[in-house]
Amino acid sequence: MSNVVVVGAQWGDEGKGKIVDWLAEEADIVVRYNGGHNAGHTLVVNGQTYKLALLPSGIVRGKPGLIGNGVALDPEALLAEIDRMASLGIHVTPQMLQIAETATLVLPVHRAIDAAQERLRTRPIGTTLRGIGPAYEDKVGRRGLRVCDLAEPESLAQKLDALLDYHNAWFRGLGLEPLPRDRMLSDLLKIAPRILPYMGRVWEQLDNARASGKRTVFEGSQAVMLDVDWGSYPYVTSSSTVAASAASGTGIAPSHLGRILGVSKVYATRVGEGPFTSEVDGTPGDLLRQRGGEYGVNTGRPRRCGWLDIVQLRQSSKVAGIDLLALTKLDVLDGFDSIYVCTGYELDGNHIDYMPSIQAEQQRLRPVLVRFDGWDGSTRGIRSFDALPREAAALIEVIQQEVGIPVSMVTTGPERDDVIVLRSPFADRAA
Ligand code: GDP
Ligand code: IMO
Ligand code: MG
Repeated sequence: MSNVVVVGAQWGDEGKGKIVDWLAEEADIVVRYNGGHNAGHTLVVNGQTYKLALLPSGIVRGKPGLIGNGVALDPEALLAEIDRMASLGIHVTPQMLQIAETATLVLPVHRAIDAAQERLRTRPIGTTLRGIGPAYEDKVGRRGLRVCDLAEPESLAQKLDALLDYHNAWFRGLGLEPLPRDRMLSDLLKIAPRILPYMGRVWEQLDNARASGKRTVFEGSQAVMLDVDWGSYPYVTSSSTVAASAASGTGIAPSHLGRILGVSKVYATRVGEGPFTSEVDGTPGDLLRQRGGEYGVNTGRPRRCGWLDIVQLRQSSKVAGIDLLALTKLDVLDGFDSIYVCTGYELDGNHIDYMPSIQAEQQRLRPVLVRFDGWDGSTRGIRSFDALPREAAALIEVIQQEVGIPVSMVTTGPERDDVIVLRSPFADRAA
């Protein structure tokens, strides 16, 4: 089995895009299986930065991309991204991109609901305001519109009416302006001819790829701690982010997924609200933000920063099915005299080694931090494990041992090839 599923192992922004781009060199197809344009995946190639939100990250290498049924697709955002990529010399034709017929659509109504819901919450989640949560709500509520609906203008109008009837009752009840139907419909009808050439049977293409021995990379968005079941609910996104959703979100059998590569920084960040036990206020946290460039790709929000949390990473790896780790942003720790790793929690004076589900307990957790020596000099751009400072190599070993999962790759800079490979994530490749 030569496929690889890429899963964010923390709170998102671990560097999944860069890892997928690297894997794409040896892969034939890259498919997105969850989330929408709440994602922001960054690639840096010869100094040129590419920020992808909906397009699979293999596209920059010229590898065909698929968008699975599990993705929440904003057609306007997709077209804007395709245009943006064209201006950078990457031309996304229907030969290069196919979108599942059954992917749920994110519409302007969903953005309006996202904003209104956040305003109404006593404790806002800090969503990306892209409408992703409300679009998934409509999908599960069985009133959503799907990509294939764009091919049937008459029933599209009826479905949109039903959707707006449902939501406008809520808007009116709150004294908010109801959403205009005609404009939304005419906009949808206008963009349908640009979207429809990309529509295809993604499940079938994946099956054909598998049958002919091709390699597929499944590109996850968000991360385990933002998973609607396994994350710190309700401070989560609205999709399943664990490896299982690579199967349900694309139409491939779970037995064909191959290796599951969890991506984690060597420290931790979170954007948006919610518990973050190893968060560091003040100087070390600010330094991590500054050196790591920890600002949201799409929203520009400063990311909260803290030390690597082994308890979180171990638990997330178990529930997400992670069997290999990619550790990213090692160079960001250059210059720290002391580096800390959270190896356990204290809850009301007791030591625990799991993440509690009860919210009040999550707030009372205290991190047990273990100190490691930092290193002199720079790891930036190092591409061989043997060239790492002794202390940096030791840190990687400690993480591997504490999490209990082999490290496959370590990244040392944002550039495409700033990668140390310890063992190939592709099962049919030699280590
Ligand atoms: P994703 O959402 O998981 O794809 O990650 P993002 O693109 O949102 O955030 C990761 C950020 O870290 C991007 O700005 C990357 O260019 C950058 N990055 C990735 N790997 C490294 C690395 O090894 N070192 C440094 N300094 N930056 C990196
Ligand atoms: P990538 O793929 C980091 C966070 C938001 C918010 C919560 C819910 O780049 O790693 P949503 O708009 O999804 O309803 O927001 O989830 N969030 C992310 N944080 N990286 C992401 O994606 C994220 N996608 C959503 O900040 O806390
Ligand atoms: Mg991101």
